[in-house]
Amino acid sequence: MPTSLIFGASGGIGRALVQRLTGDGWTVGVVSRHPHDLANLTAFRYEADVADAFAVQQAVYAAAQELPPVDLWIYAVGDILSSPVAEMTPDAWQRILTANLSGAYLATHYSLPLLAERAHLMYIGAYSEKLRLPGLTAYAAAKSGLEAFAVAFAKEQRKLRVTVVRPGAVDTPLWSKMPARLPKNAMTPAALAEKIIEAYAAGTDGMFDV
Ligand SMILES: NC(=O)c1ccc[n+]([C@@H]2O[C@H](COP(=O)([O-])OP(=O)(O)OC[C@H]3O[C@@H](n4cnc5c(N)ncnc54)[C@H](OP(=O)(O)O)[C@@H]3O)[C@@H](O)[C@H]2O)c1
Repeated sequence: MPTSLIFGASGGIGRALVQRLTGDGWTVGVVSRHPHDLANLTAFRYEADVADAFAVQQAVYAAAQELPPVDLWIYAVGDILSSPVAEMTPDAWQRILTANLSGAYLATHYSLPLLAERAHLMYIGAYSEKLRLPGLTAYAAAKSGLEAFAVAFAKEQRKLRVTVVRPGAVDTPLWSKMPARLPKNAMTPAALAEKIIEAYAAGTDGMFDV
């Protein structure tokens, strides 16, 4: 069975992925700010806040001691804030850019040595062009940046497969940070996890709009 490493594994989408993959018999490593939450799902748990480069490095080194080479690597960390630029503090801006963009770089940078030769990396992005809305400057900029990062990174690492998964609305705790209501047609995290695993099996790369 293949091996996966999931960052942001305690989140709505991350946890659904862990549940699905462990249920299918995969070996799954998880990175989270509170990995004990996942104790009933996997023994391979590592703690890191992606704002802390050293913590990410240590978490990945610990994973490298215990896990086989990683076939499917997923970055499901994310954070959102609705705030006009006039009111947004530098700390708030940095929090959103870190979770959605800089953390993706850090996690990728430190994870490269533990990947299988033809590993598949998936970043949970969003329909970035539809996010260019008042209040969402930080989130929209970060998700657009994540796409640019992934496209350029894929050209550096031709043996790896790189995908930006761009879901529509998914019913997760992220929505509690938004002034808008969750749309009625929102996906469940489990349904998105299913699509992601299908995309892995099909070898889908580039932008994957779900
Ligand atoms: N839900 C949607 O409708 C939707 C749509 C499109 C894209 N997305 C994207 O999907 C991804 C997953 O989101 P979700 O819906 O599953 O949201 P979620 O339930 O809020 O999960 C986000 C996860 O990111 C973690 N996180 C945030 N900042 C972090 C940091 N500095 N260090 C480490 N972990 C951090 C959170 O950790 P804690 O548990 O410690 O807070 C949480 O586990 C995000 O990138 C989001 O932008 C979501």
